[in-house]
Amino acid sequence: MKYSELETPRLILRGWRESDLEDLFAYCGDAEVGPAAGWPPHTDKSVSQSVLHHFMEAGDVWAVVERQSRRAIGSIGLHEEKRRENPNCRMLGYALSREWWGRGMMTEAAQAVLRYAFETLCLEMVTVYHYPQNGRSHRVIEKCGFHYEGTLRRGTVRFDGQVLDNICYSLLRTEYEAARLETARR
Ligand SMILES: CC(C)(COP(=O)(O)OP(=O)(O)OC[C@H]1O[C@@H](n2cnc3c(N)ncnc32)[C@H](O)[C@@H]1OP(=O)(O)O)[C@@H](O)C(=O)NCCC(=O)NCCS
Repeated sequence: MKYSELETPRLILRGWRESDLEDLFAYCGDAEVGPAAGWPPHTDKSVSQSVLHHFMEAGDVWAVVERQSRRAIGSIGLHEEKRRENPNCRMLGYALSREWWGRGMMTEAAQAVLRYAFETLCLEMVTVYHYPQNGRSHRVIEKCGFHYEGTLRRGTVRFDGQVLDNICYSLLRTEYEAARLETARR
């Protein structure tokens, strides 16, 4: 894992391990999860196995581990930003087991990752994108303080052939720092 382990009140964000295979397969097989993020549901454990190995090799995706159960319930990553020619920028991506939706878990994880991105990695900017119908992800993005940039119309041909717009957001380090100061002042 090229990033450090992070902790939040309810979660541990750590590198993926071979022993996470069952947990990964459990939520990645859900037809409501992958397609919302742009990837097909895992139909077989061997698909999860290769994704797990990819996560372990790339080292840019944390396992989102729920503290009490010690289960991996999702993933969150800071990926290479292929849409911009700026090495000091990364793209945020995430997915969570449906069992855990609506409890503020991903917002908690994303806020910890943003803090790490700006305060430890000293990135200049973090971007994030969602498809038009993804109201849940839209709320996570909003709660994290991202700024709407615009819509990349017909930005993606998804694995199932659907042509989808990309709703684009970013957060600059200066904006992140200003928001932190504002929160501290209140
Ligand atoms: C997007 C996702 C990570 C959100 O995780 P989560 O832990 O449920 O997110 P949070 O609980 O922090 O926030 C979800 C927000 O969406 C709101 N919400 C729930 N259902 C909604 C809906 N149908 N439309 C709009 N907002 C909705 C919740 O009320 C909450 O907002 P609130 O805090 O103002 O009440 C999760 O739904 C997921 O994994 N989805 C599938 C994969 C995916 O979409 N990944 C992102 C790709 S861009």
